[in-house]
Amino acid sequence: MSDEAPGETPRALDDELRGLEDGRAQELSLSAAPRSACPLGICDGSGFVIDEESDVAADCRCRAGRIASARTSTLEGRIPRRYQGVGFDRPPVSDIARSAPDQIASVRRYVRRIEENLDRGRGLWLQGDVGTGKTTLAMLVSKAALAAGRSVAIYSLPRLLNLLREAMDSQEGKLDFLDRLTSIDLLHIDDLGAEYRTDWVLEQLYSIVNARYEAQRAIVATTNLMPDELSERLGARTVSRLVEICGDLIPLFGADKRREFRPA
Ligand SMILES: Nc1ncnc2c1ncn2[C@@H]1O[C@H](COP(=O)(O)OP(=O)(O)O)[C@@H](O)[C@H]1O
Ligand SMILES: [Mg+2]
Repeated sequence: MSDEAPGETPRALDDELRGLEDGRAQELSLSAAPRSACPLGICDGSGFVIDEESDVAADCRCRAGRIASARTSTLEGRIPRRYQGVGFDRPPVSDIARSAPDQIASVRRYVRRIEENLDRGRGLWLQGDVGTGKTTLAMLVSKAALAAGRSVAIYSLPRLLNLLREAMDSQEGKLDFLDRLTSIDLLHIDDLGAEYRTDWVLEQLYSIVNARYEAQRAIVATTNLMPDELSERLGARTVSRLVEICGDLIPLFGADKRREFRPA
C-alpha cells in the first residue's frame, strides 16, 4: 500500500523539497536561526548556563543539538512530509523488502551503524526506475541521521544547482555555500541525473561531490540512470568519487508503484 494520493506525480517531491525553503541563497546564514526556548528547560535559550558563584559560562546540554539544528535549519534538513513516517517495518518499505530483500538489508546495515558510517564519510546510492522506492529508502537514511542528532541537507539535484546558481553572484558566495554544504554530516541528493547535462552542471556537481570527498563526508543519493549511463551523464570524475564514498549502487527494480495507485 502507498500513502500517496491518486493522481500525484513524481513532481510532488520536488515541489515539496522546494517548499522546504524560501530559496534565497543569502538566507542560508547559520547565524540567522532564531533563538528558541531550551528544550531541556535548563538555560535561557542561549545554549549556555552561567554559574552564579563563579560567573563562568558553561555549555548547556541543549547546545550540541542547537548547533546541529542551526546548521540544518538553514539548509534543507527536514524530511518532506510525504516521507516523515517512513520505517523499515511498515509499508511501503516492508513491501519493498519482499521483492528486494538484499537491497533493504544493505540499507538496514548502513542505518544500524549510521554514526560510524557518517564519521567515516561512507554513504549510499540507490538506483532504479521511477517509482521503485529509491527516495523512500534514502529518506530512511536521512531520518536515521537526524535521529542521531546529525546535520543533514536534503535536495533534489536541480534544486541544489539552483541554489548554487544564486550563490554564485560572487566567488565568495559560491565558496561559502560549498563550505556550508561540506560542513554538514550528510548530504542527501535526490535524482542525480535529472538535470540537463551541460558543462556547467558537470563542473558544479563535481565541485560539490569532490569537496565532500576531500572532507570525507557522507552522501546519500538516488538516480534513475543506468550504471552504463553514469559516466556520460554525471562525468567520470564525479562518478569515481561517488563510488568511493557510496560503494556499489544499490539497484531497485519493478513497476512504477505510483502508477498502480493512479485512477485508470
Ligand atoms: N515496492 C513497493 N511497494 C509498494 N509501494 C511502493 C514500492 N516502492 C515504492 N512505493 C511507493 O511508490 C511511491 C514512489 O516511491 P518513491 O520512493 O518516491 O520512488 P522513486 O524515488 O524510486 O521514484 C511512494 O508512494 C512509495 O510509497
Ligand atoms: Mg525519487
